[in-house]
Amino acid sequence: MRQLIAAGNWKMNLTYQEGLALAEAIHNAQRAEDILVILGTPAIHLAGVSEILKDSKQVKVAAQNCHKEEKGAYTGNISVGMIRSTGADYVILGHSERREYHGETDALIAEKIKLVLSYGLKPIYCCGEKLPVREAGKHIDLVAQQVTEGLFHLSAEDFQKVIIAYEPVWAIGTGVTASPEQAQDMHRCIRTLIADKYGAAIADSTSILYGGSVKPKNAKELFAQPDVDGGLVGGASLKADSFVAIINSF
Ligand code: PGA
Repeated sequence: MRQLIAAGNWKMNLTYQEGLALAEAIHNAQRAEDILVILGTPAIHLAGVSEILKDSKQVKVAAQNCHKEEKGAYTGNISVGMIRSTGADYVILGHSERREYHGETDALIAEKIKLVLSYGLKPIYCCGEKLPVREAGKHIDLVAQQVTEGLFHLSAEDFQKVIIAYEPVWAIGTGVTASPEQAQDMHRCIRTLIADKYGAAIADSTSILYGGSVKPKNAKELFAQPDVDGGLVGGASLKADSFVAIINSF
């Protein structure tokens, strides 16, 4: 049985105090027991949020990015070692906003994934197509390429530490959600690809999240799809009531 996950991506939102208050509220909320919750916070918030959650088995912390080098003269950047030292366990990598606004390529993200794993942290690897690609019917090819180039350099042992998030770019922050069928189709294709590369057992145990305008009102239907193992949630993760409702939608 693979792990079901509700991950929040706060992006560049919430002051430090607001972030701590939100983490506290989620920590104290009535939540379904077997769901892993991950809070993807701004780097500034990692240590404070990790402190609040230090005894929690069920709520974990993720950074939203890291640099590909371990240290050095990279003003303004954050290293994996720094992230680990805050108590965070996960790093979101390859988000479409990083690809779009910072020119991140599959090759660069692949390097970061290796580094993150070498520090004992777990990557949440984002993939997903833009609207013209879907309209041209090339979305499955594109996501297959992202998954192959971003992840398939990993050993089977390392691959099993990865969480995948399929996030169609046209659904992120737009209020337009992929239909449960569209999400399921893509997730099944990703799982098949993993099975071809690493075998059925590993494919079956890989958590594949859907992201893109997940809300309390659509989460249940999305999470009910056989290959959708949870969500990576942006806007609706910024308020405790909506995020807890999503956590309780499995
Ligand atoms: P959204 O963002 O839920 O606001 O669409 C999802 C994401 O970018 O991870």
